[in-house]
Amino acid sequence: MFFPRYLMQMQNRIYLSNKFLNSSFSSSSRPIAKFDKDIETLQLNPQVKHLGVFNHSAVKLPEQLKKAIEKILISCPDASLTQNAEILNNHLIFKKPPLTETKLNEIKVTCTEKVSETHPFPDNSFLSAEDEKKIQNSLSSKIKKIVNQNAYRWKPVVYNQTVALTYLVARIAPEYASLYQIFHEISRRDPKFQPQTLFDFGSGIGTVLWSAKSCWGDKKFKEVFCVDSSVDMNNLALALIQGGVWPNQENDCNSIEEKNKEDPSTLKGLYFRQFMPTSSALRYDLVVCAHTLLELPSAELRLQMAVSLWRKSQGYLVFVEHGSRAAFEVIMEVRDFLLSLSDENKESNLQGYVFAPCAHKRHCPRLADTTPCNFEVKYEPLKINGGLEKEKFSYIVLKKGARPDTDIQWPRVVRPVLVRSGHTICRLCTQEGKLEEIIITRAKYSKSERILARRTKWGDLLPAQLSRPDAPMSESTLGDKENIKL
Ligand SMILES: C[S@@+](CC[C@H](N)C(=O)[O-])C[C@H]1O[C@@H](n2cnc3c(N)ncnc32)[C@H](O)[C@@H]1O
Repeated sequence: MFFPRYLMQMQNRIYLSNKFLNSSFSSSSRPIAKFDKDIETLQLNPQVKHLGVFNHSAVKLPEQLKKAIEKILISCPDASLTQNAEILNNHLIFKKPPLTETKLNEIKVTCTEKVSETHPFPDNSFLSAEDEKKIQNSLSSKIKKIVNQNAYRWKPVVYNQTVALTYLVARIAPEYASLYQIFHEISRRDPKFQPQTLFDFGSGIGTVLWSAKSCWGDKKFKEVFCVDSSVDMNNLALALIQGGVWPNQENDCNSIEEKNKEDPSTLKGLYFRQFMPTSSALRYDLVVCAHTLLELPSAELRLQMAVSLWRKSQGYLVFVEHGSRAAFEVIMEVRDFLLSLSDENKESNLQGYVFAPCAHKRHCPRLADTTPCNFEVKYEPLKINGGLEKEKFSYIVLKKGARPDTDIQWPRVVRPVLVRSGHTICRLCTQEGKLEEIIITRAKYSKSERILARRTKWGDLLPAQLSRPDAPMSESTLGDKENIKL
């Protein structure tokens, strides 16, 4: 079958690249940045942000949403909510995809070998059949125990009403912030894109909708289709939209069409379903799958879902997950799969390209090391959590159609920019799919270029084309003694 073969190829590729490649930023022959012509005018005006700069300030939830959350939490007092939220948060952050059969078998073989090394089976010519069986059973249970310790056991989270509330406290603020950052980039780089229809798979408590509305305007969306298998998540999403008023049993999200008639202002065009619609005829401007890939029980289902969502999109398709290594790998799995489909189907509805964060469609250079390609967003947490926090996330935005010739594909800043007294270091992922480090010094770059580099942050695009000097540059030429590895 097509899916398993593809998965085996992917796993081999990740394994081989982990084993043999070294992906740290090359410092022996650093490229030179040729900045975009316009920056001289842009950078001398501190009010103007160049097109590659996205949001840098802490993201706050909309007031209306904060009020709705407060009302809901008052109506369901639970002393252990914040503590449980922390436990759920940790569970989700460390969550991995379920192990494949092949991987599980590999672990079993390794554990069996280890046990037979440390506990060799005694010479069975002296053993009675009963003793032999006893020893065999004891070894089997030892192997089972070690396998259990070493094999990650994936379990689905059951999103009942208590877990839904816990999820709200734990995750709404960071997930809203990372989505806001992604949508903000789309709207800034593609101002003509004004989505009117939204499809949200694994819609949960409706964070995607809130975030998209903040970005493109409250009244923009004519149709919003939310799919989530949990009725309790759907009801909580609806309660938030209704300003903190829970739907009652006769009037829950399954009968939202009835509610549409009562209150067309907020609910018109909003649909909640527990299952993916079978027809792929309807297309949506914006299709999103946020924090749901790791909830699916197999790689096969993840890829099937990715294709269904790609077919539903007529504009952008966004996948976002927490910034862990495991989450980054599942994001790359769907990216590479959809890009390979796109390559094979030039004329069809499956054609598209990576809009963000990659400036290229090649294999991700980050798969060659242990660091995930992730980004960071600051956010204001809910009052009951307090403080100011940062969320790491990995994402991919695919756009339908062919990449326009005018698309500049500036390199992406993939780690914090290091501002030193005499120079600035930017770590970039380039159009060639390589990790490169550039050093902006007084000797080589103009004042406005130096200001621009300092102002650019992790996650932004650097408005420059990179080229490699003929001869490798020495550390002294650059005035840099640092040799950074990530
Ligand atoms: C971690 S939550 C993400 C919530 C949501 N994206 C948000 O930001 O609020 C994952 C959601 O996926 C839903 N889910 C899991 N498997 C699903 C499936 N096969 N079909 C639809 N929804 C599913 C769960 O019920 C849960 O609400």
